[in-house]
Amino acid sequence: MCGIVGYVGHEKAVDVLIGGLQRLEYRGYDSAGIAVLNQGGMHLARSVGKVRQLADLVYRDWDAQFIAAARVGIAHTRWATHGPPIERNAHPQVDGAGRIAMVHNGIIENYKALQQRLQAGGHVFKSDTDSEVLAHLIGEYYTDGNDLLRAVCAALGQVEGTYGIAVLACDQPDRLVVARRGSPIVLGLGHDETIVASDASAIVAHTDQVIYLNDDDVAVVGADGVEMRNIHNVPVSREVSRIDWDAKAAEKDGFDHFMLKEIFEQPEALRNTIRGRLDQRQATAIISGLALSPREMADIQRVVLMGCGTSLHAAMVGEYFFEDLADLPADVEQAAEFRYRNPIIQSRDLAIAISQSGETADTLAAVREAKHKGALVAGVCNVVGSTIARETGLGVYLHAGPEIGVASTKAFTSQLLVLFMMALKFGRCRRLSREVGLGLCDEIEKIPELVRKVIDHNDLIAEVAAAYSQAEDFFYIGRGYLYPAALEGALKLKEISYIHAEGYHAAELKHGPIALLQENVPVMALLCDVPGKEKTVGNVEECKARRAPVVAIVTEGDEAAAEYADHAIPVPRTSKYLAPLVSVVAMQIFAYHVARLRGCEIDQPRNLAKSVTVE
Ligand code: F6R
Repeated sequence: MCGIVGYVGHEKAVDVLIGGLQRLEYRGYDSAGIAVLNQGGMHLARSVGKVRQLADLVYRDWDAQFIAAARVGIAHTRWATHGPPIERNAHPQVDGAGRIAMVHNGIIENYKALQQRLQAGGHVFKSDTDSEVLAHLIGEYYTDGNDLLRAVCAALGQVEGTYGIAVLACDQPDRLVVARRGSPIVLGLGHDETIVASDASAIVAHTDQVIYLNDDDVAVVGADGVEMRNIHNVPVSREVSRIDWDAKAAEKDGFDHFMLKEIFEQPEALRNTIRGRLDQRQATAIISGLALSPREMADIQRVVLMGCGTSLHAAMVGEYFFEDLADLPADVEQAAEFRYRNPIIQSRDLAIAISQSGETADTLAAVREAKHKGALVAGVCNVVGSTIARETGLGVYLHAGPEIGVASTKAFTSQLLVLFMMALKFGRCRRLSREVGLGLCDEIEKIPELVRKVIDHNDLIAEVAAAYSQAEDFFYIGRGYLYPAALEGALKLKEISYIHAEGYHAAELKHGPIALLQENVPVMALLCDVPGKEKTVGNVEECKARRAPVVAIVTEGDEAAAEYADHAIPVPRTSKYLAPLVSVVAMQIFAYHVARLRGCEIDQPRNLAKSVTVE
């Protein structure tokens, strides 16, 4: 959600910043902007639309000598919160005197009060954004013209809300000041250059050495390194971490879309998720990030799974895993709601926060609330070093590699796998027999191959998708383990194809939604050959009686199930545990082809952003 890049070094700042923005564009893409400095002063450009439009404008309108000489700058790609996506609301925002430029990710909650105070002092605002107020406030404190760090700290001391910022001052062409509270900032430490970014994907092309800022950290960034402070201007030390993937992992690699690449990558991503985590001898999983002894595991009395969107759907499957395999009561919490209710958390509860990005504001708030209430909190995150991963301290990384497509695909299947392995581990510390544990280890090892078999049906699924690409409404139904899978299938279709799609428990359809079924409202029925199938078949009959066309996901060879549908998509036979995993892969491919046929912007659907860092 909004991407920030900053650069101080020996390369052409404009090229580095535009390149960085392109890598961060999945975080927001309604407008973009850039400000760079050289001895001749500051150049600033902003434009509505994609980074490509900003790049065209800059390379066309800016003096080539200026571009060649500038070595310091900041840039931003926006996902609008305050004010529509128009040029004046794009970032960088500048202070009243035009000496300070700032890019901001987050929300300044008390901006109205600050704005009124500044207006009373003569400040005139040109945008509708909360961010401009912060730029003016920094400018207000930048009185002596030479201590940008102090001005930033003083301004941030007045601010309520969240921010990741990068600030430059016209008369300080050798540095940036950056800060974070609630919105991620990563510093990449190169040779005679430092790159600032909202996440590592804009940094990997330059260096693998990074510092993740903590909340309330402020840093002065120069070409030769960084000076770390807190918001009170007191020195702090932060460790340097290594990024363990390279720039190529964040490229399309010949695929038309990141989403398709990431769907096809799933066997490999799942292999990476499994690697080193199976202990056949003990018939269990190795979850070293959990750092709990078998006795401590046996002592956990309940699991609370929290997440948003696709990660929430993974949590819902996880609930079944923990109940079935670990014999543990499990509850799912929609993370955004968690801290606004009064959830009952007890000391032997384990809260598991599931988040691909590890930055989702709602999930992070739930983590903090669960910790506050005394729960043990673990993270299941993909992005290494992300806020949730660091704040939980305990947990499991997916190791699925960078997910760039805005619609989550490989992260979902890796989340299911991690939750499955966690439930196996907890189960083995409780009542799950060695024999059953061994069987589950065998199943886990086969997962990448099962997913590959689904992907092998890409062409067939594309043909089925062609028959439904003109639909305007779609229902997805499933039960048991396939109920959350139905929700996820519907989410994939609606977010990338803009078809109105609803996921329902198959039994729930008749309690209201069935009123909407007719010959132009198709139903995707999850009919894998696992417990509950016969009942779902009954619900399919009800749909057909209302003349709704039916597409079914069926177990390969289950001709009888396929007969109930107008079109059938086969997936390999699995246990009930893995049925959601293989079905969702088929539905990802289905959604992809529908969206492609409708000419949609698959990797960057309208109104969405990859990582939602505001509540
Ligand atoms: C859907 C999607 C979103 C995310 C949600 C949570 O395809 O990507 O629904 O799943 O915003 O994001 P994370 O997992 O990063 O917390």
